[in-house]
Amino acid sequence: MSSVWSRVGALPCRVAVLHRAGHRICRSALCTPPTVHKESETNGSISAVPGARRNCCFKRRYSTTHTVDPMEMKKFQAWSAKWWDEEGVYSALHAMNDIRVPFIRDILMSKHHDHNVGRPLSGIRLLDVGCGGGLLSEPLGRLGATVTGIDPLEDNIRTGELHKSFDPVLDKRVQYRTCSLEDLVEHNMESFDAVVASEVVEHVNDVEAFIQICFQVLKPGGSLFITTINKTNLSYLLGILLAEKVMSIVPEGTHDWDKFISPVELERLLESNGFVVDMLKGMLYNPLMGSWHWFDDTSINYAIHAVKMVAKEQSTDMEFERDQEPSKTAEASM
Ligand SMILES: C[S@@+](CC[C@H](N)C(=O)[O-])C[C@H]1O[C@@H](n2cnc3c(N)ncnc32)[C@H](O)[C@@H]1O
Repeated sequence: MSSVWSRVGALPCRVAVLHRAGHRICRSALCTPPTVHKESETNGSISAVPGARRNCCFKRRYSTTHTVDPMEMKKFQAWSAKWWDEEGVYSALHAMNDIRVPFIRDILMSKHHDHNVGRPLSGIRLLDVGCGGGLLSEPLGRLGATVTGIDPLEDNIRTGELHKSFDPVLDKRVQYRTCSLEDLVEHNMESFDAVVASEVVEHVNDVEAFIQICFQVLKPGGSLFITTINKTNLSYLLGILLAEKVMSIVPEGTHDWDKFISPVELERLLESNGFVVDMLKGMLYNPLMGSWHWFDDTSINYAIHAVKMVAKEQSTDMEFERDQEPSKTAEASM
């Protein structure tokens, strides 16, 4: 038995659901008799089984799939209108743009040589997974990338849409969707030049499954950018005790130390799932200045850039074509 958070109008109510052979039975007291919902196997959407009572209170506010942790959704729901408050709960993420945007931009520019003046990322299809209210999607869109921002939480996406609507330049370049990676993968295999998951993996269930889906949606040779928090005593002291309990930089309960992951473990997961880790850098936040810096040490925050390896058959084909080249040249000169 698991539980889902839902709302009746503005009133949050906790609805317990039973999973049975792909069906959910709503057990809320407000829903009598209990309504049977069928969960789509492809996109996780929920529809009432024909004949069952309609307009039941059970209205999911987020995408529920394997990597999505309902407790995390509950936390982010509470702050879903606060994304663009630069002094608010997401102030450290606003400040992080000063280093993460150039990090992503410079690596992508070094891989794609056809730069457009003023729009160096034009022509690049980028997926921002766990985009929240679009703090990173927007600057990447302004740099010219075609950005798809996804987040399982509907109210985060609403905030992103609203904010984006104030800038007509972003209208075509940035598209948002309420969904998880699992929801997206079926129609987006090998579609993106880059996937960004910034400050997300410490909130997901099953990091390995998450990485495997990132692999599936990336084109061969595509880039995966991850920023996250290491699992060390120091990250507990600074990231949870100091940041949450002493300085209130982020609200208490934002992070769960058990979900943190070390760079060694993350690299192992990446490399065992088809990626080559190209770069690992430590990051440090100065709470007094409200600014981020690159740092030699990765014991608190860090950033990784990994590249999706080209499949064996593809590289063999390329090697075969290359091997054929000299004979073609020889034939041509005869
Ligand atoms: C700390 S915020 C980071 C937001 C954004 N990436 C940024 O840096 O501005 C984490 C975000 O990840 C989303 N999230 C949590 N679990 C997720 C999952 N399994 N798949 C995709 N996004 C998820 C949350 O809804 C939240 O918006």
